[in-house]
Amino acid sequence: MSLSVEQLFEHLWQQYIQINPQAEKIQQLLEQRGETIINDHIALRTFNTKKLGLVNIADSFIRRGYKVIDEYDFSKKKLNAIHLEHVDNINHPKVFISELRTELFSENLQNIIAQIDAQITEEEVAQELFITSGRTWNLSFEQYIQLLRESEYAAWTAAFGYRANHFTVSLNHLTTFFNLEDLNNFLLQHGFVLNDTAGSIKGTPQQYLEQSSTMAAPVNLEFDHSTHVIPGCFYEFAKRYPLPETGRLYQGFITASADKIFESTNN
Ligand code: NI
Repeated sequence: MSLSVEQLFEHLWQQYIQINPQAEKIQQLLEQRGETIINDHIALRTFNTKKLGLVNIADSFIRRGYKVIDEYDFSKKKLNAIHLEHVDNINHPKVFISELRTELFSENLQNIIAQIDAQITEEEVAQELFITSGRTWNLSFEQYIQLLRESEYAAWTAAFGYRANHFTVSLNHLTTFFNLEDLNNFLLQHGFVLNDTAGSIKGTPQQYLEQSSTMAAPVNLEFDHSTHVIPGCFYEFAKRYPLPETGRLYQGFITASADKIFESTNN
């Protein structure tokens, strides 16, 4: 293991801003105001096959001082998820990893995922930069559309492969914005488009977590025989509230709000 945890996040960030340059622009705008960005969390997506399941994706982080803190069940989206935190440094982003429960979908979807799985070896999954390897398998636009009809998540993951789906700015660490409304207004004034599914802010102070996000930037993506413009990655913003018992900021995720945030990559 040669990469530090910081280097791993830097690889993920550089790969992310290549297809989501709006995140870099927003970061620059915030830095021009004198802000220093701390990431609340990043999110990764995978399929629940033996080789690609979230346990294997989590390994890169566990080997670098992370541990699994909680597990989630997104029954509507048919996903399992976990979140990990760094044991020693709370300023390292939390890592949210989800996996599609492929067995709950059609035989056709399961066949497409099995074809993807067959094109990746266990050795590749074990490489330390596997989580930034992108798409290394064949995929036709027809297959993408077939996946999209059943699961936006499946289609996105098949099209973009291994990379961060989003980074998330921690509003608690910003000094010139006190709430998400102010930050959202600032972004709207600068011409960014926000995800308005169920209002631009998901979650409430009573749930100890509020989040908003940009809509995913369109990406010109190459498929087997053609190139198409499809939604890529979004940038997220999170404000956490202290728990009454401990006074510590809530560190978990709300399944109902995350269902809406997953829709940031909808067409
Ligand atoms: Ni998120």
